[in-house]
Formats: sequence, structure tokens, C-alpha cells
Amino acid sequence: MNADHTNHPDAECTPLKGWRAGLLWFPDPHSPKAQHETDGLLVTGQSADGIVRIQALGPYRELIQRYPDLPVTHWPGLCIAPGFVDLHIHYPQTDVIGSPADGLLPWLTHYTFPHEKQFSEPAYAHEVTAFFLDELMRHGVTTALCFATAHPESVDVFMAEAQKRHLRMITGKVLQDRHSPDGLRDSDTDLSLRQTEDLIQRWHGIERLGYAITPRFAPTSTLAQLHGAGDIAQQYPDVWIQSHVAENPDEIRWVHKLFPEARSYLDVYDRAGLLRQRAVYAHCIHLDEADRRRMAEVGSTAAVSPTSNLFLGSGFFDYAASEAAGLRYGLASDVGGGTSFSPFHTMHAAYTVARQSVGRPGISLTPEHLWWQHTAGAAQALDLNGKVGNLLPGCEADFVVLNPKATPLLARRTAQTDTLAEWLFAMIVLGDDRLIAHTVVQGQIIQNPGLQNT
Ligand code: GUN
Ligand code: ZN
Repeated sequence: MNADHTNHPDAECTPLKGWRAGLLWFPDPHSPKAQHETDGLLVTGQSADGIVRIQALGPYRELIQRYPDLPVTHWPGLCIAPGFVDLHIHYPQTDVIGSPADGLLPWLTHYTFPHEKQFSEPAYAHEVTAFFLDELMRHGVTTALCFATAHPESVDVFMAEAQKRHLRMITGKVLQDRHSPDGLRDSDTDLSLRQTEDLIQRWHGIERLGYAITPRFAPTSTLAQLHGAGDIAQQYPDVWIQSHVAENPDEIRWVHKLFPEARSYLDVYDRAGLLRQRAVYAHCIHLDEADRRRMAEVGSTAAVSPTSNLFLGSGFFDYAASEAAGLRYGLASDVGGGTSFSPFHTMHAAYTVARQSVGRPGISLTPEHLWWQHTAGAAQALDLNGKVGNLLPGCEADFVVLNPKATPLLARRTAQTDTLAEWLFAMIVLGDDRLIAHTVVQGQIIQNPGLQNT
């Protein structure tokens, strides 16, 4: 155990709480190398700014000596791990999951756009938001970069509910002023940009909430809207940007027709000033080398969404080419194109996608790397390294408690593993929401609180 992990980052914090169980974390958040402690202690406490942070972690028997009066919640046989970070998800598509279509564009036209129209109604948006956030918690996802809809109310409702639950969440009003149906289309481009700025001022940086400038994708925005979004991005450099790029061949052909002056689909965003740090682009499947290098150069990141890409038949993210270009990436569910809220399903699908050798060598992602892509690596992609996605001291106290014996098959299979990699892989391949015994947000057990053993 590195001595750094037991340092007390915040001498003023109060009150301290201890959590005893196995521990899984990434000692170097930049490296997908996990550490596992079988009987560990995690110490959390509220800092002067009101945020509950991790104060120390280490082997229980050693660390408890420093905290003799610490109240400890003990979970024998379970393992504390970082809360998962979902880099791309649409809360208004919770009820679109599993809608079959002949690829992305028919799926948007027949299911997604008609469904999203309903989010002009705040009461409806609120009911879906509450269900969605409950579902994220059940699956151990404690931070998400999330699309709302074109209706500003859909952002207000989501932000207010996330604030009530003390969550670290990022969302934004979707910008789409063309090729979209009435009721979802921004009928006034200037107004859509003013609404974006109003929402930034209302929500960005309030407690743990963040705003993301959210052009849906190039085909549904005029050049004026894209450039307006880029101007706002320049004015607010710590606000996020989220969109979709290079997901589907028909979509890409459409973009070339609409923006003949651009070198590539990605270049449409680049020309509009929408490529920079804190810009997260979903899919990034059909990029070329120049695109990947450009994203790496400016520090934009890819939200890899394998269950969505498999479901919609969009293609396979090229891990080897992305690594070679230095493109940063992390994992995402892309619900409702994606088929599951479960990080285990997403990690499993990412493994499957990376193995594909259609026109390129397939690679085998290690279980630690897959896990990192959905925790510390995803946090890094969001520029939230040191805040979420890890258990290092100073990180915010959002974590999950895994039950590796959650099902008979999981219990049997995990008991027969010899290495950390084998153990993690068994959970990735066989896991789902049942593996998440508890989810803890800001030091409060919000999932299955009755099952704690104090
Ligand atoms: N491209 C534009 N909008 C969407 C969306 O809602 N989902 C996905 N997967 N791709 C998109
Ligand atoms: Zn999406």
C-alpha cells in the first residue's frame, strides 16, 4: 500500500465515517492498473465546502489504528469500488430502449424524435427523470454526461432532481433547428442559443451540477446554430460540449451533402469551434486518421457506446487506431440506442467489439482496462480526474459495493478465479444490477440502505 493513500487530505473535515469491505481502485488514475485490498477500510468525511470526500483508504487492520473511534459500516464478503461514470446517455430515451429499426436514421425518425416531443411537459419530464436517476443508482452509475431534449424545461427538471439527490451530473438542452419534427425543432435559432446561455447561468457549477452545450448532431443544426454554439463554448471554457459523430454510414453521407465544404464529419464541428477540451463525442466509429489525431491534439474525447453500436448496427469502435492516435476515450451506455443501463453489459460489449477483426486486427482489452474506461478513465475524459471515478483521497465519496456472490453462477464462477483479472472478468461477463449491493452517494447509502451491517 502506497503511503499516499492513507494521507489525510482535509484536516477540517467532519464527521468521519468508515466503510469496511474489499477495496478496488486505480492507484495511478492515468493507468488502467487496478489495486485490490481484500479487507480494506475507506474513510469519508464532509469538507468545509459541504462535499463529502474520501479521506483515506488502506488495509483495515493498519488504518483503523489511526481512527480508533470511527463508526464503521462493515460489509463482509463485499467489495467497494468507484461509482461508474457514463460518458453518454439520453435520459429522455429511457422508454425508447429496445425499439428496433433499420439503423440510426429510421430509429431517430420513427421512435426517438416522436418520443422526445413529450418532454415539453415538465410533469412528464419529472416522472422520467426520477425513474432514470433511480435506475442509474441501481446500476451503480453515479455520474453521467446526459442529453436532455430540445425543451429547456427538460434541463430544469433534470438538474433540480439531480441537485435534490446531491448527484454529480452534467446535462444540456439539445440544439436542433432543422430536419426535426415540429415540437422538437428549435423554431428560432437565436432563441435556442439564448436558452443555452440562460441554462448555463442557472445551473453550471451549482453544487455538483455541470452544463453541456448539446448540438444533437450536425444534420439537425444549421451552420448558424453550430457556430453560435461554438461561440458560447468559447465564452464558457469550463462548460462541457456533447454531440454525436461518425456513427453510421448513411448519416455520414448526409453530412457530406449538407456540409460539402468540410473535410470530414468531424471537421464540421471543428470549423464551428466545437472541438476542444471538455468536448465529448459519442461513437467516433467511422473516423479517419486525421480526425483521430485532431481530436487528440485538441483534447476532445470519444464516448464509446458498444451496446448501441451493436443494436443499431452502426459499426465497431477502433480501439487500436484510437490508441495509436492518442485519442482519449471512455465507456457509455447511449441509452436508448444502447440496450442497458448496466456498466457490466457495456464493458462486456466493449470487449466483444474490440475483438472484432473486420478489416483490422482484433484486440483483447483486459478486464482492468475495461473497468478503468468506465470509472477513472471516463472521469479523465470528462476532465473530472481526482473528483469522481476513483477511491483516492480527495475524490468525492460516490462508490458502489459489489456482491460477487449475487447470483448462483456469479458465486460459483468468482470463487474459481485465481487472479484479480479473472475475478473482474467473471463480474464483467456475468454481472448486471444484481451485482450492485449498494450505491453510496456523498457518503449516504442510497441503494438498499436496509441491508447494511453496521
Ligand atoms: N445521433 C443523433 N441523435 C442521436 C441519438 O439520439 N442517439 C444516437 N445513438 N445517435 C444520434
Ligand atoms: Zn446518443
